[in-house]
Amino acid sequence: MDIKTNPWDDIFKQKGRFFHEPHADMPAVAQLMKDRGVKTVLDLGNGTGRHAVFLSKNGFTVYGMDNSPQAIQSAQEWLQAEGLTADLKYGDITEPFPYPDAFFDALISVQVINHGDNATVKRIADEITRVIKPGGVLFITVATLKNQAKTWEQIEPNTFMPLDGREKGLLHHFFTPEELQELFSGFNITDTHLDRGGHYCLTAVKK
Ligand SMILES: C[S@@+](CC[C@H](N)C(=O)[O-])C[C@H]1O[C@@H](n2cnc3c(N)ncnc32)[C@H](O)[C@@H]1O
Repeated sequence: MDIKTNPWDDIFKQKGRFFHEPHADMPAVAQLMKDRGVKTVLDLGNGTGRHAVFLSKNGFTVYGMDNSPQAIQSAQEWLQAEGLTADLKYGDITEPFPYPDAFFDALISVQVINHGDNATVKRIADEITRVIKPGGVLFITVATLKNQAKTWEQIEPNTFMPLDGREKGLLHHFFTPEELQELFSGFNITDTHLDRGGHYCLTAVKK
């Protein structure tokens, strides 16, 4: 297989898990999922597994996809250590997702889908919409602040490349709330807010 990865693979190799606690919204998101009868959840860009572990512990059937082999391996080790399981696979979210239409009851993606230019982000949003069932739950967070690097090169409106820092070379798209609402117009948005790290969080239910 041709392995295309991203700077997070090296960050995880050097720093280990890096993210330890689930995002602060996850208990509320898990409760919404339970209230709506969710069973299967895709963690898109699962990283080293903090949400796969949390969701699996909460009784959901968890799937994950990430293009960092190190992330997949670390997440699997963490799940195994906790006596939990999840179906994690290597996959690049800028390509068509390897899942059938309406396959998932829910999808979460924390600090992932902002890595791409305008056209890529639109494709990712369309793929997210495709794989969630009508009535299914979506929770995503995206970056709003350029605090990952000192120098940025603008690639196109709202899309920048960090020229230094730990995410050097990884495209960043900074969404406006209006843009997110348009990209996910196939959903009824139930909540939007900024989290403490300056990430824009969106919770929605598919129409
Ligand atoms: C900021 S980390 C967040 C990880 C995880 N969602 C969490 O909250 O702990 C970004 C993640 O996105 C993944 N990622 C970046 N670009 C990707 C791509 N094109 N396809 C799949 N995963 C990607 C990275 O490997 C990394 O695991």
